[in-house]
Amino acid sequence: MSLWGGRFLNESNKIFKKFNSSLTFDYLLAEEDIFASISWSHALVEVGVLTLEEQKKIESALIFLKKEIFNNPKKILESNYEDIHSWIESNLIKKIGELGKKLHTGRSRNDQITTDLKLWCKRKVNFLLESIILLQKTFVFVAEENYDIIMPGYTHLQRAQPITFAYWCMAYIEMLKRDESRLKDILVRLNISPLGSGALSGTAWNIDRTKLAISMGFDSATNNALDSVSDRDYVIELLSASSISMTHLSRFSEDLIFFNSSEANFIELSDSITSGSSLMPQKKNPDALEIIRSKCGRVHGALMSILVVLKSLPLSYNKDMQEDKEGLFDSLKTWHDSLSIANLVLKNVKLNPVSCRKAAEQGYANATEIADYLVKKGVTFREAHHISGQLVLRAINEKKSLNDLDLSTFKMYSDLIENDIYKEITLEACLEKRGSQGGVSFQEVRKQINKEKERLNIL
Ligand code: ARG
Repeated sequence: MSLWGGRFLNESNKIFKKFNSSLTFDYLLAEEDIFASISWSHALVEVGVLTLEEQKKIESALIFLKKEIFNNPKKILESNYEDIHSWIESNLIKKIGELGKKLHTGRSRNDQITTDLKLWCKRKVNFLLESIILLQKTFVFVAEENYDIIMPGYTHLQRAQPITFAYWCMAYIEMLKRDESRLKDILVRLNISPLGSGALSGTAWNIDRTKLAISMGFDSATNNALDSVSDRDYVIELLSASSISMTHLSRFSEDLIFFNSSEANFIELSDSITSGSSLMPQKKNPDALEIIRSKCGRVHGALMSILVVLKSLPLSYNKDMQEDKEGLFDSLKTWHDSLSIANLVLKNVKLNPVSCRKAAEQGYANATEIADYLVKKGVTFREAHHISGQLVLRAINEKKSLNDLDLSTFKMYSDLIENDIYKEITLEACLEKRGSQGGVSFQEVRKQINKEKERLNIL
């Protein structure tokens, strides 16, 4: 059942055979393997290895195989072939006999596997891009819906300065835009075809590799066969892009888990994505978000794994490289699922504007405004910071907010403070002042929302 029996006198050990096989996971590449094989058969016609008639027979048998797999994808797993390439070639031979044995002329499983994998990755990248864009659209939608809800912004998980929920949404859009651009950049390199590299030094048949590449939807063909069969940079890049994006999703999850906590009470998560406790009837747990937060770990693990597999690996192909697939398949699925679930959670989030505002009012989030007020009256920022800090201490001791201190108290710390201080330190004033690019003012956020709506084609 193997493709390489000639040189061997004895059968493979059964346990080794199972250990060596990649069929249990690379069966997912069947569609790509058939697609690339059909393209290869056309190239073989051009160099006179196949007649047009033979090529047609091979092509229709491969299409027939594809239909069989489509009807029952697990059919492949009922056999014990070494990998998907052996399975397809052997089944082709079973269908059309000797002619099937011509297909592998001039190619190797080494260029075959990386071609299949690149084709598979290209398809997945397009799905991922769709999900990333969809999530961005939901963020824009939720930002607009909750445009004027003021809440505290945090540093060190301490209330720092007031922000709006819309502004928080727009921060995640920026992260997702970078995730999108990373994927598009990876696509540039995924779009170079390794087919026709042979085992490691090129094919001995004078195939027009550029024409072959373009016929498969690639932009061009690779330049050096030794590199082409060894290169798995695109796997590292995709796992790196998924790790970064999963990190974003884990921070999103953590933020919402906190906003949803009884302590913050800024939002309520929908029943449809939370679960109850078997013991405590009052509980509504943010399971969906907790799972996204933890799924990040396995994706980071897959990135570490491929880096270690490839480190110091000599050129060119080594069987070590078979380990590139499971982590990649799992990670891209995990990433895709997490994007969909994040979208579901976000779409159904309900804000609690009263608690959001109350929290923003507490915590002395407007202390910076007092310092800025004094700076405008000629005090240096360092000195103004000190005065404002003393006022905060005073307010803490009196269990008051800064807005509740009376003017005579303010004056004890600086003579320059007048009645106009009160309007300078309202939440709205804090926000409105930050109208420079990237700031939190309502106007600036509106501008950003409009810009993103245009980019995302939201009418
Ligand atoms: N299953 C192998 C892989 O995933 C395919 C390439 C095998 N090539 C070889 N010379 N054994 O990497």
